[in-house]
Amino acid sequence: MKSAEIRDRFLRFFERHGHTIVPSSPLVPANDPTLLFTNSGMVQFKDVFLGTDKRTYTRATSSQRSVRAGGKHNDLENVGYTARHHTFFEMLGNFSFGDYFKHDAIHFAWQFLTEELKLPQDKLWVTVFHDDEEAAHIWLKEIGVPEARFTRISTSDNFWQMGDTGPCGPCSEIFYDHGPEVAGGPPGTADADGDRYIEIWNLVFMQFNRDEKGVLHPLPKPSVDTGMGLERISAIMQHVHSNYDIDLFQELIQAAARETHATDLTHNSLKVIADHIRACSFLIVDGVIPSNEGRGYVLRRIIRRAIRHGYKLGQNQPFFHLIVADLARIMGVAYPELLVKQEQVKAVLLQEEERFAETLENGMAVLEEALHQEDKMLNGETVFKLYDTFGFPMDLTADIARERGINLDIAGFEQAMEAQRERARAASKFTSQHHIDYQGSGTEFVGYEQLNCEAEIIALYHEGVAVRELHHGEQGLVVLDQTPFYAESGGQVGDQGQLISSHGTFKVSDTRKIQARVSGHSGHVLTGKIQVGDTLRAEVDMPLRHAAQLNHSATHLLHAALRQVLGEHVHQRGSLVDPMKTRFDFSHDKPLSPEQKRRIEELVNQQVRNNHLVSVSIMSYDDAINKGAMALFDEKYGDEVRVVGMAEFSTELCGGTHVQRTGDIGLFRIVSESGVASGIRRIEAVTGRLALEYTHQEQDELIEAALKLKAPPQELVQKLSHLLDNVKQLERELEKLKAKLAHSEGVELVNQVRLIKGVQVLSAEIPDADVKTLRETLDVLKSRLSPAIIVLGSRAQGKVSLIAGVTADLVHQVKAGELVNSVAMQVGGKGGGRADMAQAGGTQPEGLNTALESVYAWCEGQL
Ligand code: ALA
Repeated sequence: MKSAEIRDRFLRFFERHGHTIVPSSPLVPANDPTLLFTNSGMVQFKDVFLGTDKRTYTRATSSQRSVRAGGKHNDLENVGYTARHHTFFEMLGNFSFGDYFKHDAIHFAWQFLTEELKLPQDKLWVTVFHDDEEAAHIWLKEIGVPEARFTRISTSDNFWQMGDTGPCGPCSEIFYDHGPEVAGGPPGTADADGDRYIEIWNLVFMQFNRDEKGVLHPLPKPSVDTGMGLERISAIMQHVHSNYDIDLFQELIQAAARETHATDLTHNSLKVIADHIRACSFLIVDGVIPSNEGRGYVLRRIIRRAIRHGYKLGQNQPFFHLIVADLARIMGVAYPELLVKQEQVKAVLLQEEERFAETLENGMAVLEEALHQEDKMLNGETVFKLYDTFGFPMDLTADIARERGINLDIAGFEQAMEAQRERARAASKFTSQHHIDYQGSGTEFVGYEQLNCEAEIIALYHEGVAVRELHHGEQGLVVLDQTPFYAESGGQVGDQGQLISSHGTFKVSDTRKIQARVSGHSGHVLTGKIQVGDTLRAEVDMPLRHAAQLNHSATHLLHAALRQVLGEHVHQRGSLVDPMKTRFDFSHDKPLSPEQKRRIEELVNQQVRNNHLVSVSIMSYDDAINKGAMALFDEKYGDEVRVVGMAEFSTELCGGTHVQRTGDIGLFRIVSESGVASGIRRIEAVTGRLALEYTHQEQDELIEAALKLKAPPQELVQKLSHLLDNVKQLERELEKLKAKLAHSEGVELVNQVRLIKGVQVLSAEIPDADVKTLRETLDVLKSRLSPAIIVLGSRAQGKVSLIAGVTADLVHQVKAGELVNSVAMQVGGKGGGRADMAQAGGTQPEGLNTALESVYAWCEGQL
């Protein structure tokens, strides 16, 4: 049974049992800074489990693309060493949100495995959390699993949690016995880590939410989250032991062999490459770009690990990106986004391959040498040097050292890293935000229609801890029952403003969502104090909000204009809309020409002048997409979506705030256009008053230039060409003078010639001469002296230039190339060239005199 059929059978089975099939969410979780990547099927339902979000269904099923690299669940280091670990995999899951619980979850799983897939019961092994009597009873008494294949486990293996915080609960796992010919023991025994008994399905009974301090709070309703790795169940259904032998992987392994010229198809490095191409491609599809921090760094680590395994197979040319086409062929049907973006994925990978190629070889040499000297532990400084200078992520170095049975001195590395870490920590938003443990109801947002309203304080936080009051000067976060403040989302920054009660004023400097439906107003108490229960007036800073709105609406027009001018391949890849500007990242592979930029500006401004009414409507997601609305891959949409339209020109799904008519934008100007990553361009633009200011600034610069050139602005271009012609003329005259100077220098130097064994030898410095002057002087000297050996040198800005010449009658005896090299070596350089003329450079001007003097002795020796 092919993997695709298993995926399909699973979803249909649960659909028949009342579950709604929900598409896989992207690998980058929407609005969740606590999680690096989507690591299982439940991630897109996190808020539903917590009770802060609702869906129209209470049973769901999905096949979720997942990544376990970096973060709490990390399998990167195991890939290539076991038969069953992956960085990227597909998780089949069924979910109950307060609907069924343990009984149905267990019965569904058993029925699917033994009836739908017809797995023999005596091959299955079951575990439960040690004190979960209810689950044990269902398995032993209702299903009839024999005690002999049943284990109670007290460790974290049977207590699943998404991350350090979030939903969690005890779980029950189903294992498959691959038979006695594979090494390994049953779950709960000392050699459980072997490959014989493989966990295939995890049924989690979601009961708690773990807070930042590790305390467990019961969830509003007990729920179910299950996960079965598609690759593992496919291995069983295809009667192979290793996941890497299933259909999905075999084709990739062949592609990896083709591109690395490997002949041994069982080589572990091919498995690593086949695994990593999946993780890397899908991460890039979902908007991650290789970088030095956060998600981008994990991506970079995986790419570099793959490149290194190619290198190990003897491939040191870029090859990894060439496997993307194979992956698109194999997985494009299930994940069409891969087909759409495959060229971009390829470009990003190629760029990263080229970048790493520059240092990989040198780094490997350093590492090889260090590994030769070590027998147990590679010192932390070397690990850090490899990291810092050669771009070797620590796990890459560990991977190589592990092949020789050598460990890393991690403490030493950490020490060397500490300074950099501190900086990263400050910059990273993964740790800097306080986690707010809020249990109350949601905030009603009234800010589409009004910029102020009456509201009541529901909760207050100081440094992340709930408090009753905030006093004058104190920083904190306020939750209101309703608010006109827009919370940062969809690229538009959060509102600023004030909360004014009869006892005090709170200045809001930012508004963000602390949960899907709850806004947090952060800032500080300006006067008096505020307390929970106060009613107050919430006032958004109107000019700032209006300015942000102009930029947001302009962004929609820009997006549409880009697609008209550049083509339909343009997709939004990120945006930031604040009161100052809009910054828009989009997929496109080359810089925009001045004409394209002009055309885009014209199109947007035309729409501004048309003064369209901006329409907002709420409809179902499917209706919106059918109407041609543009949706973004990395946004989470509910069933109902908000659609913002500007006549026929632009239709987008958007929760942001907008102008009433496009004419409000006033004027739109592009300020810059640049590349941010391979295949991704960035435009920054301004609107309204700031666009006019920008235009004035350009004009001021023109006027200033005109003043400097003493010409009216309209004659500036003519005047400039005139000046440039003049400069050219002067340069030509200067050249002529230099040639003349060389000539007279040459004549002068003839006096310094020494006669060695009948040959005229001259070695001299010509102060301040450039290379061209040196060459011309040499020519003058060669025309006057014969037989002769001549070396000339000069120094400027810490560098030495050298030239050597030998007259034709001597070239059999003396080689100019060897001569210039012997001089260059004394000034930290190297050189060579023809027998009659050769050039060199150096970096130690202080050695020039001695080096030039050595020429005479050298000639004595050669002649
Ligand atoms: N979320 C559970 C897991 O990933 C099902 O194992």
